[in-house]
Amino acid sequence: MKIFLDTADVAEIREYAASGLVDGVTTNPSLAAKAGKDYVESLKEICSIVPGAVSGEVLATDFAGMMKEAEVLRKIAANIAVKVPLTWDGLKACAKLSGEGTMVNVTLCFSPVQAWMAAKAGATFISPFIGRVDDMGEDGLGLIHDIRAVYDNYNFKTEILAASIRSVSHVRECLLAGADVATMPASIFKALISHPLTDKGLAAFMADAKKANVTIKGA
Ligand code: E4P
Repeated sequence: MKIFLDTADVAEIREYAASGLVDGVTTNPSLAAKAGKDYVESLKEICSIVPGAVSGEVLATDFAGMMKEAEVLRKIAANIAVKVPLTWDGLKACAKLSGEGTMVNVTLCFSPVQAWMAAKAGATFISPFIGRVDDMGEDGLGLIHDIRAVYDNYNFKTEILAASIRSVSHVRECLLAGADVATMPASIFKALISHPLTDKGLAAFMADAKKANVTIKGA
């Protein structure tokens, strides 16, 4: 499963991408607003930091407007994915852009039927929002399982990009459900490797080595 950071904060992306474990980035208008910098300039910088897809979302809601914005977005870099909403105009734009070889991320997916329609429109990525489904008292991870089944049943190549991730448990469940990508805030990325027994074990190793003066000669 690929790891994407769900942020438009360039400094944050630079910091965590240095781990070599960040494959791509997703942004959306709310994240761009939060970052407070020119959206296109930020996307340019982000595309040069990570090796994989960087989603830049259109702001228009009509087909013509989306295509106009997509023209600007897709010129940013080869690894840009144009993000469109799961609406009729968004799916029309998805089909057109995909047909022209542009990566497309269809966002705001809340049902397996919607995911099926996005795949039929040639989406590179589908973004089901786990956390927002959970917030409604429904089963966000069930949505990932259902989309996996639909895509496998009909051999769709659209990648399931699990979004709206709120916890490390969500990430664990996405791994088990067969999501292709998980996009997460930096705070969750940071927490992925945390385990109290790792910290405890390391402290004991270091204490024992210090007590017996164990060294690595030549280092
Ligand atoms: C990613 O593509 C989505 O825009 C994002 O994960 C939404 O997350 P939220 O529900 O926490 O805003």
